[in-house]
Amino acid sequence: MNQKFYIKTFGCQMNVADSERMAALLAGLGMDPADEIEQAQVIIINGCSVREKAVHKAVSQLGELQLLKRDPGIGGAPIIGMGGCVGQLDQKELFKRAPYLDFVFGTDTIDNLPEILHRVRSGERHVIYTDFDPSMDYSTETKIHTASAQAFVNIMKGCDKYCTYCIVPYTRGREKSRTIDEVVNDVARLVATGVREVTLLGQNVNSFGKGNVNTLAREPRTLHNVIGKVGPKEGEENFPQLLRAIDSDPRCSALKRIRFTSSHPLDFSEELIECYAPPEQGGVTRLASQLHLPVQSGSNSVLQKMGRHHKVEQYLSQMEHLRKLRPDVGLSTDLIVGFPTETDEDFKATLELLDRLQYDGAYAFAYSPRPGTRAAKMPDDVPDSLKRERLNILLSHQLKISQQRYAAFIGKRVEILVEGEAKNQNIVTGGARKARTHYHDEGAEHEREPKFDTKAAPSGTGRVWTGRTSCFRIVNFLVPAGAGPAEDLTGKFLEIEITGSTSLTLQGKL
Ligand code: SAM
Ligand code: SF4
Ligand code: F3S
Repeated sequence: MNQKFYIKTFGCQMNVADSERMAALLAGLGMDPADEIEQAQVIIINGCSVREKAVHKAVSQLGELQLLKRDPGIGGAPIIGMGGCVGQLDQKELFKRAPYLDFVFGTDTIDNLPEILHRVRSGERHVIYTDFDPSMDYSTETKIHTASAQAFVNIMKGCDKYCTYCIVPYTRGREKSRTIDEVVNDVARLVATGVREVTLLGQNVNSFGKGNVNTLAREPRTLHNVIGKVGPKEGEENFPQLLRAIDSDPRCSALKRIRFTSSHPLDFSEELIECYAPPEQGGVTRLASQLHLPVQSGSNSVLQKMGRHHKVEQYLSQMEHLRKLRPDVGLSTDLIVGFPTETDEDFKATLELLDRLQYDGAYAFAYSPRPGTRAAKMPDDVPDSLKRERLNILLSHQLKISQQRYAAFIGKRVEILVEGEAKNQNIVTGGARKARTHYHDEGAEHEREPKFDTKAAPSGTGRVWTGRTSCFRIVNFLVPAGAGPAEDLTGKFLEIEITGSTSLTLQGKL
């Protein structure tokens, strides 16, 4: 019987995509995924360091694994590794905390996984691979473990923005971009295998192209010349060009949707906004009606201390232009409350921004000082109780907005890409579902979903399926037993009539 692996993922979509790559590499070694952690011979924790709470989750998970080492089942003691941003940042400190840990690897050494396992299996203890790739160029091919109509495609890595609160530039290194040709070929290959929706990934996708191998004048990447720098420059490859190249490549004609995440308002150029125009006005046909554009705060003074290099007014005019070109765009954001020196007035400005922008959803976080960042040197002067209070106010404020925006869909027909059967088969007939969020199991607070509107839901027996609209809304729908198609609907584009809503999901019928 083949050996089994189990990967526990925390953090953002970058980590989710990295876990998929790890799974593909392990499958390449002849291993199968385990349903339960106890069945696995190789266990990997892909950790996130963005907030203290996230690190705590990864490290507590590691603590729980000690029992499996001490008291192994019939499969023997598992090999245990820590990866992701926690591995990258904490490195050999993790062995001190958990001497039973076998290996630590980082965000730039995922492809070394087979070699790492070989070394551990040959008897080496505490194997560590956390160096950043020293080459300037970034070239890779997407590796997928499970066949699906959707795929994440890394187009750039690292972050040069150095927002004062953020650990990511330290865990993911300097920005490096693939070339347009390479990404288009990669997407074309995925489309040939049945992929119909791609999400282009990077910490800051709209600085894609900055200094990539197709750029003539490349500067050395030292800390002092990258902080906060906008990129790419005139003449370099850029993100809108990449979108258009994918959209117009005949090999990608079966692709239906292009999404991307994450973006920074500073690089969110007019050229990119114009990609959202209707096709007859030169827009990118396959670009999904969705944008996640973190704003972080509605106060210019806080934004300045956060080192965001943009103002609220700029952000508002960007969103105004965007909505003019694509009125149905689904808009979401990230917000931090309780940043050092944040006053009641600053916080009120954030609430006002929510009122003005009418986001469809928001991810909100209480500020958590990260060691080594510039903000960690500022006094963390907003008490925890006030941070929590502001977080709750903000979440319930956004909840009302989201509820209204979702309810406006009732009676409409939407096209969805079916992602699979709903995990919780009761969702259409009662219980609330924990919606899949942008950030994975690491402390992101979404507005809390209210009890499901049972009156609006179609009732009866059958299978509940789940999918997403172009504007990224989750739609759950029931196929009544005997009445609808019996086959697997995963990967299909279907039209659904919306009959009910909460602040995070829509419900409907086929
Ligand atoms: N590069 C992306 C961006 O800028 O949008 C994602 C950054 S981070 C992975 C995701 C979110 O975590 C950020 O947008 C920010 O709201 C939040 N975050 C980052 N550092 C934080 C900190 N120290 N405390 C609280 N929230 C933080
Ligand atoms: Fe962090 Fe700012 Fe980079 Fe986003 S843009 S990853 S918040 S430093
Ligand atoms: Fe993502 Fe967390 Fe790393 S949010 S980039 S996994 S620190």
